[in-house]
Amino acid sequence: MKQRIFSGIQPSGNLHIGNYLGAIKQWLPLQDEYDALFCVVDLHAITVPQDPIELHKKTLEIAKIYLAAGIDPEKCILFAQSHVKEHTELAWILNTIARLGDLDKMTQFKDKSAKGGAETSSVGLYTYPVLMAADILLYDTAVVPVGKDQAQHVELARTLAERFNKRFSETFVVPEVKLSKEGQIIMGLDDPSKKMSKSASSEYNYISLTDDAATVERKIKKAVTDSGSEIVYSDDKPALKNLINIYTLFSDKTQEEVVAMYQGKGYGDFKAGLTEVIVHFLSPFQERLASISDEEVEGVLRKGAEKARIIAKEKMRQVNERVGFLSE
Ligand code: TYM
Repeated sequence: MKQRIFSGIQPSGNLHIGNYLGAIKQWLPLQDEYDALFCVVDLHAITVPQDPIELHKKTLEIAKIYLAAGIDPEKCILFAQSHVKEHTELAWILNTIARLGDLDKMTQFKDKSAKGGAETSSVGLYTYPVLMAADILLYDTAVVPVGKDQAQHVELARTLAERFNKRFSETFVVPEVKLSKEGQIIMGLDDPSKKMSKSASSEYNYISLTDDAATVERKIKKAVTDSGSEIVYSDDKPALKNLINIYTLFSDKTQEEVVAMYQGKGYGDFKAGLTEVIVHFLSPFQERLASISDEEVEGVLRKGAEKARIIAKEKMRQVNERVGFLSE
């Protein structure tokens, strides 16, 4: 029997090349090796205020992005989180297993709540990693392919699985995290000390998967670089290192090959080449994206939810019984 993988993306902000390179790109080959579930995590998105019309549109857009990138609903289960009620049901039970001490450690909450202040952050934002644990544990997930920024949340899912198993007997598979190539996080183009982020205040932080060629060119031209003019891959040059990482991931060349290609050339040539490899990926991708209708993707999500529900319902039956709830 194949092992199971689960991963998801929030339908909030603009999906960027960091999400593609850190998550979706590594999912593609996994669809064949694993029994895969990919989710649009709309319940996670509402932990910060969302415009309902925008959320609706974004949820469809993310699902279309999955399809356009090559996620194949014939090979995996693709669905929207809110369509499978068991996610919230299990999250509640796990909320009673998780401790304040577990959640107080979560760096993402600290970062996100620092912006508007913890006092006014939603309780949902605080317990969000518990919902993520529910997503993972509900399906007996063995492997969770994510970017490094999500590793701490997967670690919490492991802790909660182990704690539940110890208290109520063996129920959940303890999941492993699987990081993208070399655990790379794509950093902001305007600030290489922070990750590229959907919620960044400046559009010069990221390249959106829906940016056209002229926008990509403009953003890459404006991307910050380090002092000096040589193309070298080094920790002392974090801005350039990040751009070389993006180049290697889109071109499937090694860092050494990219650096060798630009020996004796300057940032101008390198940035022109980088724009080209990004646009080379984005153009056909965006054509596929535009060809997918709302009806098509709604159908895919509906069918995906039907399949996911079968697995989720059986797991919740087991969990409810272990906890001591009366059967319905
Ligand atoms: P989200 O929506 O913030 O990001 C989706 C995926 O993209 C990766 N990622 C990045 N990778 C490299 N460089 C970056 N700059 C970058 N920014 C984002 C993230 O690591 C992630 O893999 N909580 C999750 C979604 C989620 C989930 C789950 C994931 C909910 N339930 C269960 C796995 C399993 C999140 O907010 O990801």
